[in-house]
Amino acid sequence: MIQEKKLSKNLLKYEITFKNISPLDFELFNIFLIESGVGSIEEVDSKFFFYLREDKRDFLEEIYNFLKEKNINFKIRLVKELGDSYLYEWEKYLSPVIIENFLIKPSWFQLNIIEIDTPCAFGTGKHPTTQMCIEFILNLIKNEKFNSFLDAGTGSGILSIIAYKTEKIEKIIAFDKDIEAIKTAKNNFMKNRCNNIYLICSTFEGLKIKKYDLVCANMLSSIILDYKEILENLTKKYLIVSGIEENEKEKFLSNFQVKNFRLLNEKIKENWYSFLFKKL
Ligand SMILES: C[S@@+](CC[C@H](N)C(=O)[O-])C[C@H]1O[C@@H](n2cnc3c(N)ncnc32)[C@H](O)[C@@H]1O
Repeated sequence: MIQEKKLSKNLLKYEITFKNISPLDFELFNIFLIESGVGSIEEVDSKFFFYLREDKRDFLEEIYNFLKEKNINFKIRLVKELGDSYLYEWEKYLSPVIIENFLIKPSWFQLNIIEIDTPCAFGTGKHPTTQMCIEFILNLIKNEKFNSFLDAGTGSGILSIIAYKTEKIEKIIAFDKDIEAIKTAKNNFMKNRCNNIYLICSTFEGLKIKKYDLVCANMLSSIILDYKEILENLTKKYLIVSGIEENEKEKFLSNFQVKNFRLLNEKIKENWYSFLFKKL
């Protein structure tokens, strides 16, 4: 199951001033904060700050106890309450890093590991068009439950695997016109223990027209345009399209005029666009 980080919305910023603290005690205090999941002390213009999530406010008492035990004179003052956007920056700062074969992460950050082997450049998760599809899917399932997901042009199967791991979508159907992609996706489904994803080797024309709550197509914009009517017929609630180059955006949107779709959101990464449409 993809873990939603259960963070309080508010982040509290505290300033701490010390009257007498040795460099060693300062270092020990910093380590204490890091090991407790608070994060290291921030130094700005010779002032020291630390941050606590609102739901961890009680941890102040442990900070008091730690410093008192060491006979350190200090003062802590709440500077301000920071909103979501700052929290997002803070989360980004604390997000996991991989160095060689070590993955370093805060203890509260729960990982879902997906294993993908693929002979092609797509579907590794590194391409921006794939990443934007994943972001749209994860965002949509936060607010809504979906009965069905159609992964058009599944490639390595990555989008179906993510959709499966969310445990929020009952039925997942993946198709690709390329038999090698189908073999790759099948292997990846097995590796990630995705037991009941329907996998079909087909083009759009070969699909039985059924309605899927969520449809995602990450492929060349010319292909998406060729199949816009079929995509409309297949979509019940939302359609994600990805793989539109920046310089093609306007042309794509003016040609992708399907009366039953309303553009809800767009993302851009490294000159690639992704769009989220709502079926009316
Ligand atoms: C850019 S890859 C996307 C792979 C994966 N979904 C991802 O997001 O990383 C596009 C995939 O669509 C498939 N494809 C292209 N045209 C298609 C068509 N008309 N019908 C079915 N699959 C198609 C390709 O074979 C390829 O595997």
